[in-house]
Parts: sequence; structure tokens; C-alpha cells
Amino acid sequence: MPPRVALATARAAWGLDPDEPALLAALAEAGVEAEPQAWDDPDADWAAFDLVVLRSTWDYAERRAAFLDWAERVEAATTLANPLEVVRANTDKRYLATLAAAGVPVVDTAFFAPGEEVVLPEHGEAVVKPAVSAGSRDTLRTWPGERERPLALAERLHAEGRTVMVQPYVASVDERGESALFYLDGAFSHTVAKGPILPPGADVIDGLHAAEDLAAREATEAERAVADAALDVLDADGLLYARVDLVDAADGTPEVLEVELTEPSLFLRYAEGSVERFARAIAAHARERARR
Ligand SMILES: Nc1ncnc2c1ncn2[C@@H]1O[C@H](COP(=O)(O)OP(=O)(O)O)[C@@H](O)[C@H]1O
Ligand SMILES: [Mg+2]
Repeated sequence: MPPRVALATARAAWGLDPDEPALLAALAEAGVEAEPQAWDDPDADWAAFDLVVLRSTWDYAERRAAFLDWAERVEAATTLANPLEVVRANTDKRYLATLAAAGVPVVDTAFFAPGEEVVLPEHGEAVVKPAVSAGSRDTLRTWPGERERPLALAERLHAEGRTVMVQPYVASVDERGESALFYLDGAFSHTVAKGPILPPGADVIDGLHAAEDLAAREATEAERAVADAALDVLDADGLLYARVDLVDAADGTPEVLEVELTEPSLFLRYAEGSVERFARAIAAHARERARR
């Protein structure tokens, strides 16, 4: 019997992951019976799979509790990758504070829970966004010193019971974008450059995720070192997939914008051989489970 694998997506994201067709083909090639399944499909039979791989569950940010309940049910029924414990910690960006406390360079971040007064920087541009976030939704770049729009966004997020993050706008993003470093099955795999998402003055985006300008890139040694350190601190070095998003600080050194261990786009189409490597890793994990 070939092992059975579900690629977890969302009803709202059905068919939208550009890596999915190639991954399904590579999994078939690797002898795995794989299919997409929406996490929010009440009829899905998760126990029928040897492995459930989180992929394009892009709509959980507005209902994290329901998503974690679902992940808990799946992990009770079969194997979830990445595991529940990782997903629980990674779906709230307060893990950035853990990284900073451990000495990993991180974009300067202040967190404001509902009920706390949101403090905006007096000078320079800032970014206001939710601590549980995906797809650049509800993410606002301010003008220097601007208060009305960012405070209105913060008030709305607080009213929804969500914690607000405030960061300085990292100026290098306008020129160099960010570097996404990918690790598959614990090994460094590839790097993709992602262009700037937030033009000055723009309103928060509508829809599941912002348009992205992508290209292959070679990570610098400094970027590799920071990404490795971040994964080490988060105990994430051996996971099936991991992605670390880095930007350049004012002095040109890399700092962490985000560590994606839940549902990162893997941009496999930008790195030759990566889809086959990922499929082989998934197949190995699924066979291990099927043997038990
Ligand atoms: N502090 C910042 N400085 C510059 N750009 C930012 C900053 N925060 C977010 N962005 C832009 O907004 C996008 C989405 O923010 P991010 O923190 O990655 O959240 P998400 O989880 O929604 O991907 C980033 O890819 C980046 O282009
Ligand atoms: Mg991001």
C-alpha cells in the first residue's frame, strides 16, 4: 500500500498554491498517494492519512484558536508536520521576543495586547500589524509621525482581541526586499528574494495575500548564520520545512523579520531540484508512520 499524504490547504486557498501541482506530481513519482485537503472542511477524514503536511492554510490568522483546535485533532489522529507544538508557538510572533532575548538579531518590535496603549515611534516610518498574521493582511506602513490610520488599525485589531505589533519600517526593504531562506528536512535548501510589499501611503491589502515580486537569490554567509541561529533557538533545526525571512538592518547586517514554521510558501519553483527533495522527505516521513 502506498503511504497517503494530505497537503493541508484552506477552502479559501483551494488551488491557489503555485507549488502544489509540481509537489503532487513529485509525490506521485516518489510513490506517495497525495491530495490537497482543506483544514476547514468538516468532512475531511484526517485519520485516513499517514501524514498531514501543512501547506496553504493561509486563512488561520483571523481564527487561530479554531486552527489550533484542528491541528490538535489532526495530531491525535495521525502525524502532523510541522508538529502541533511548533505550530502553536509559531503562529504568534511573540516568538520574536524569544529570539531577541537569546541574542539573535531581530527587527525591533513592540507588542501591545488588547487593553494596552499602543505607542508609535515619534520619528520615521513604522509598521503596524497583528502578532498573528499571514499574507501581509492588516499590515500598515505609516508616514513619519502619522497617528490616525495606524491607531485606527490598532484599535480594530484590539477590538478583535488581537495583539498589535509596532516596528520601525526597515528602509532597506525598498531597495533589496527580504531574503527567505528555506530548510527542507533539516538541511539548508534555497533562498528566494521577495520585493517590497508596502508602498508608502498604501492602505492595508484586501484579499488572502499581497502580490509578491520573487526571484532566486544566493544567501550571504551572514544571512545563513542568522537563519541557523534563529532555528537553533526555536528548536526548529530538524523540521520537515522551515523558512526564515531576513532583512538588512541600517548597518547592513541581517535581522529576522519572521520565522515561518507553519504554512510558508516554499517557492520551490525558484530552486531546481527542491520539489523532488521535498517530495522524497515527505515520502520518507509518511512511510515511517505507515510502518507503525
Ligand atoms: N518592519 C518592516 N519594515 C519593512 N517592511 C515590512 C516590515 N514589516 C512588514 N513589512 C513588509 O510587509 C510584509 C508582511 O509582513 P510580515 O511581517 O512578513 O508578515 P506576514 O506574516 O503577514 O508575512 C513583509 O513581507 C514586508 O514586505
Ligand atoms: Mg512575511
